[in-house]
Amino acid sequence: MNRILQLLLLTLFFFSCTSHKTEVSSPDKNIRLAFNIDNEGFMSYNIKVNDSIFIDDSQLGFEAKDGLNLSNSFEIIKTEFSSKDETWNQIWGENKTIRNHYNEMAIHLANIDSTYLVIRFRLFNDGLGFRYEYRIKDTDKIILTDELTTFNIKENGVSWSIPASFETYELLYRTLPLNEVEDANTPFTFKTTRLQDYKTTSLSVNESISSESVSESESVSIYASIHEAALTDFPEMTLRLHQSKDERLKAKGKSRQFKVQLAPYPDGKTKAIFEKDNFISPWRTIQISDKAVGLINSNLILNLNEPCVLEGDLSWIRPMKYVGVWWGMHLGVESWVMGDRHGATTENAKRYIDFAADNNIDAVLFEGWNEGWDSWGGRQNFDFTKAYADFDIDEIMRYAKEKDIEVIGHHETGGNIINYENQLEEAYRWTKEKGINCVKTGYAGGLPDRHNHHGQHNVRHYRKVVETAARHHITLDVHEPIKPTGIRRTYPNMMTREGARGMEWNAWSEGNPPEHHVMLPFTRLLAGPMDYTPGTFDILFDNTRNSPLRKKWNSNDKGNSRVNTTLAKQLANWVILYSPLQMASDMIEHYEGHPAFQFFRDFNPDCDWSEALQGEPGEYVAIVRRAGEDFFLGAATNGSAREIEIPLTFLEKGKSYEATIYSDGDDAHWETNPTSYKIEKKTVSSHDTLFIKMAAGGGCAVVF
Ligand code: NOJ
Ligand code: CA
Repeated sequence: MNRILQLLLLTLFFFSCTSHKTEVSSPDKNIRLAFNIDNEGFMSYNIKVNDSIFIDDSQLGFEAKDGLNLSNSFEIIKTEFSSKDETWNQIWGENKTIRNHYNEMAIHLANIDSTYLVIRFRLFNDGLGFRYEYRIKDTDKIILTDELTTFNIKENGVSWSIPASFETYELLYRTLPLNEVEDANTPFTFKTTRLQDYKTTSLSVNESISSESVSESESVSIYASIHEAALTDFPEMTLRLHQSKDERLKAKGKSRQFKVQLAPYPDGKTKAIFEKDNFISPWRTIQISDKAVGLINSNLILNLNEPCVLEGDLSWIRPMKYVGVWWGMHLGVESWVMGDRHGATTENAKRYIDFAADNNIDAVLFEGWNEGWDSWGGRQNFDFTKAYADFDIDEIMRYAKEKDIEVIGHHETGGNIINYENQLEEAYRWTKEKGINCVKTGYAGGLPDRHNHHGQHNVRHYRKVVETAARHHITLDVHEPIKPTGIRRTYPNMMTREGARGMEWNAWSEGNPPEHHVMLPFTRLLAGPMDYTPGTFDILFDNTRNSPLRKKWNSNDKGNSRVNTTLAKQLANWVILYSPLQMASDMIEHYEGHPAFQFFRDFNPDCDWSEALQGEPGEYVAIVRRAGEDFFLGAATNGSAREIEIPLTFLEKGKSYEATIYSDGDDAHWETNPTSYKIEKKTVSSHDTLFIKMAAGGGCAVVF
């Protein structure tokens, strides 16, 4: 068809189909999104919350190589509206039953350059998501060079985030005014505040006789978090301040408009490659709530992922508590590599298995079990089917089976994904054959060929591992992962991951500050579970640089490492930092005979329901989870001591519970007296209120 005829047909089509309604609202009508297209066919959107602009006009579209036009000259072909209200179940999660309730607006567009596009907007009561579905005629390859999506946040406010990085998420959180953020990784959490006038009517004593109107103003806050859902075949998205030089000068360097930055291929320009004529982007998401804890209670990210694709009996996927031959290596007391201090020996393995069996713990992780650790720090070539000579895997598996304990395997790749992919199929076959149902993976190190950790290349690798593991009925705990975006709904064997600074940083760096653990639930954990590995009891360990046992393995070491919390906060973190595979991180000798370890013995990581009750990012948080008949409550504070009151209305009405309360001692302080704690028992019911007193850097954990 020649170009003029094509143009004519398209124009006719537009005339007959164009619909002018391009707005959609959330089911409760509090959030409204409007789609716009200007006379050059550039697309934009804006969002109102409670009738006030929240996200001002913001750009949409992509740029691509080879003259493909993915950004302008668009016309609307048709607009489709639909709604859904359903509940669905998952086999594990913070909540096993989830409501999926939204209104959808799908805008169908086309441009003269043969690009067809559907932008699908879904509005929920707890936020929204939109994604791009492109098809380009007569093309068999699409190379994306940029995503044009922006988020133009109307009001200033405060934000909580880590800097953008295409290599790591193991960074410290910053609390910054929105207009001082240069770039950020997602989930990018923020709060905007604006003053709103309203009229009050004061009534006289006899209401029917007289009343007068008074105008007052109140400040209205909105909490929100920008992230993405269903990142399956795309580079990750980060955010960068978006302003032209002129705008920047005018705004004196202050702006609140952020543009998507996609992790690039090694050439720095290519962002995504599709060897076909179409692609679907991940969902760009904004969770929205009038309370900070509302963000934690939102299921938006999961709702925007595809249902579970795994079929048949899924009983091989189950939440577990575990201990591991792990912390000793980070302290330098033990080593990954075979030698005098080798951690993963047959003898030590049996000691850990015995401990797990005696303490109501499901599984044991062994790191440093396989050959390849000798070349740590270079281009490692781990062998994933060859155990070290002093780790008798068959005997260990026999012993574990006898004691009814699961073994968690470990695949550290050192970033060498070529070596890993070469062994992938055989490694998972062999692992399953040995009787191992869960594997922790790791990518500590640069990737080959100058790829970064978060680009499309590696996202595809992570997905390949999830699918391979699923085929072999193996669950995963991924360290140095791609950030979670809810694919655990589709592949529930992808259980937990790191993707933030975890416990390990306390062993060999300045550590994670007390605010870190009350930042994570409002940021990183909005995206999905985290294997933080809480529960270190030996808080003031000797890890000084000149200790004879110290084996420095990380250049961030400041030689003054320690855990920056109280002991009670370590217990609380087992509840707060949700992970279906939950570790007690310390070496087992530090738990032997310790009264506070009873909390972990009683703890059940397989919860049915959760609710974040109170909290502010970086300040404090209180979360409750129900597992069967039991409730577990975790509360924690930053560097400030704090008292909070928790009405126990979540308990079953008319039932009385014995509460075992693990809290900070009266003289506890994370810096000067972290191990002071107390255990009390109380009989309570849903009518009671619990008064919780937390020390600086402290917390409280309760079993009901
Ligand atoms: C980094 C991981 O986060 C940690 O858990 C692991 O022990 C080391 N890499 C070694 O694999
Ligand atoms: Ca790590």
